[in-house]
Amino acid sequence: MSPTNLITQPSGPLRGHVRMPGDKSISHRALLLGAIAEGTSRVENFLPAADCLATLRTVQALGVEVEELAPTTLIIHGQGLRGLREPDDVLDCGRSGTTMRLLAGMLAGQPFLSVLTGNAQLRRRPMGRVVEPLRRMGATVLGREGGRRPPLALQGGNLRGIDYTLPVASAQVKSALLLASLYADGPTTLHVPGPARDHTERMLIAMGGRLQMANGKLRIDPGERLQALDVTVPGDFSSAAFLIVVATLVPGSEITIEGLGVNPTRIGLLDALRAMGADVTLHDERTVSGEPVADLTTRASELRGVEVSGALVVRAIDEFPILTVAATQAQGETIVRGAAELRVKETDRIATTVQELRRLGAEIAPRPDGFLVHGPTPLRGAAVHSHGDHRLAMALAVAGLIASGETLVQDVGCIADSFPGFEATLAHLGGQKL
Ligand code: S3P
Repeated sequence: MSPTNLITQPSGPLRGHVRMPGDKSISHRALLLGAIAEGTSRVENFLPAADCLATLRTVQALGVEVEELAPTTLIIHGQGLRGLREPDDVLDCGRSGTTMRLLAGMLAGQPFLSVLTGNAQLRRRPMGRVVEPLRRMGATVLGREGGRRPPLALQGGNLRGIDYTLPVASAQVKSALLLASLYADGPTTLHVPGPARDHTERMLIAMGGRLQMANGKLRIDPGERLQALDVTVPGDFSSAAFLIVVATLVPGSEITIEGLGVNPTRIGLLDALRAMGADVTLHDERTVSGEPVADLTTRASELRGVEVSGALVVRAIDEFPILTVAATQAQGETIVRGAAELRVKETDRIATTVQELRRLGAEIAPRPDGFLVHGPTPLRGAAVHSHGDHRLAMALAVAGLIASGETLVQDVGCIADSFPGFEATLAHLGGQKL
């Protein structure tokens, strides 16, 4: 169990080689698609973090046997597209939005009743974005506030294909609809307004799914079967982001992260940091289980402010808490526009990031759709709070490593939602023992 609070001191240089835990998004998808494939799938480097374990438990509750050979090695006994069974209780998605939204899509195709709930944080998050198109496909979905908030109750089956333009560039909505469309009576066409992560598409194609992609348009034909697939999950770029920023900011650092997922739809932070002057290079680029993978080296460097907007925002959507920490140390102004989605993540990340970084002395202001940060500003140690948001907790810990004096980050148990071993990894790189 992670401690509830973390205390940080100014960090020495980080040096060495490290690997990241498995990618969270890909771990969820390996479980869900493995569950409805024909035959046995083996998953290596699965992320055994709270969010993915919530997906694991729900899949088991749907009658899928999953052998846990090790915390990171799973064997999934797929039941085929039509072999899931009605769960005999409510499915608890914990605080995982990915679990709830992707499952909603998959369950919309099942001819039985499922009820999805989660913790208080998840029950506040918007679900209308998946419920509305699933209803158009013919699923019966009930939920609080007319289906806009969890819990959700789904009675699925008999879906029809639709032509649908997503209101937001969301990979969760896209993936939910791709899963549902496997069960439709005809093709589904999705128009996605931006480069949202494409892990579901890659995995579906590798499993024999009939999918065509061109210029933001996706067409999927319903299938008779998906073939089981062995997957080695790449290291999670969104976890590496914290180490990349701390190594950039602490003078004398040089770290290499091996076996890292570098799918172009995920690495917007690299483009932003490079535009700011960061020294980040990729080596040995290769493809592992259909996903781009590389080793990444970061050396400390001076940064300058930039504007982050447009398609880059979607490709960096989970990295804004840590990007703003980097921006506090950059020369000049950093402005983030077009990122209003941050208001409906695990927390309202515009409000919580601004509130907490200001406690450390950052010059940061909220905008309706982003941030304005002036730098460089020396940060001073203080007591800060994660608001139960894993990415904010880790961004604040990194801020503490570059702040003077001592920083107390409260309520850091949530770090285990995505990056178990975060503190140990920093200690291994020689920053300090947290
Ligand atoms: C995810 C998609 C993104 C991201 C989340 C994981 C996924 O959410 O923020 O952490 O695995 O599909 P949205 O699709 O809501 O943008």
